[in-house]
Amino acid sequence: MKWLITGAGGMLGTDLREELLSRGEDVVAAAKDDLDITSHDDVIRFVEETAPQIIVNCAAYTKVDLAETEESLANAINGSAVEFLASAANRVDASLIQVSTDFVFDGSSSTPYEINAPTAPLSAYGRSKLIGEHAAARAKKHLIVRTAWLFGVHGPNFVEAIRNQIRKGTNPLRVVSDQRGRPTYTPHLARAIARVGLLGATGIVHYSDEPECTWYDFACAIHEEMGSPTAIVPVSSDQFPRPAKRPAYSVLSTERYERLTGVKPDSWRDGLREYFERRTG
Ligand SMILES: NC(=O)c1ccc[n+]([C@@H]2O[C@H](COP(=O)([O-])OP(=O)(O)OC[C@H]3O[C@@H](n4cnc5c(N)ncnc54)[C@H](OP(=O)(O)O)[C@@H]3O)[C@@H](O)[C@H]2O)c1
Repeated sequence: MKWLITGAGGMLGTDLREELLSRGEDVVAAAKDDLDITSHDDVIRFVEETAPQIIVNCAAYTKVDLAETEESLANAINGSAVEFLASAANRVDASLIQVSTDFVFDGSSSTPYEINAPTAPLSAYGRSKLIGEHAAARAKKHLIVRTAWLFGVHGPNFVEAIRNQIRKGTNPLRVVSDQRGRPTYTPHLARAIARVGLLGATGIVHYSDEPECTWYDFACAIHEEMGSPTAIVPVSSDQFPRPAKRPAYSVLSTERYERLTGVKPDSWRDGLREYFERRTG
């Protein structure tokens, strides 16, 4: 199968490239310098020239707080550009896999979000990603993969933020304990995307690692991996006001993924161990 990855220089894009190459797939990995997805003409030309069978859009505007003041830029990258990819995919009869987020939900649920749960983003970033989902649906063959709480060695993420705080000597370290989700190691997500892509799945699928936890629980696991003496203290999110509102409950149901692939999601705890083995610097 011939794959095109856009945003291939990012945290997920880099791991997806490695996953697909390890499976012997034919991969065109386009980082932002190779293809700016906000340029309609470049997108059409690039896709026609490379003629992939599957396009995975890993390119995104991911600065969640800054998006509150840069909503039009977020919409251009996460929304309109996805429409260009969808129309390019249709021209070459390719499938479009669009990576989306738990931030399309408002977090008011108390049970895991199913794929058809009503969307109601709380933030500019979430709204831009929802525009992207609708745009991706213009591709005749499309799959929206929603995921959450990503960490991987090729980009800034929560694990690195906690690690840096611990190394700086912040003690005690206060971490929010009233937001629940499922942390997801990007190589695990990359494997899940490869699986559902090769199965030719369409529609919406959720992928997150197991099990669910709070940011506080996640920080405690990071702290344990590091064997640090720092005290981790649970606090409520109102003690950490941020420009973008986060969903309090971000747990995605992965039932459809499990039915499609016949496998359970991976464990983020295993991912965390691997993360520390790989990111030694
Ligand atoms: N990180 C999370 O916790 C999380 C959670 C749920 C869903 N997601 C979704 O998962 C996907 C991958 O996220 P990630 O964490 O891997 O993000 P990332 O590391 O920020 O990667 C995004 C990549 O897209 C590139 N990009 C930005 N604008 C572009 C443009 N106009 N054309 C082409 N490339 C462009 C970025 O380049 P520059 O850095 O040079 O701008 C970056 O390399 C995104 O769709 C994101 O919304 C992420």
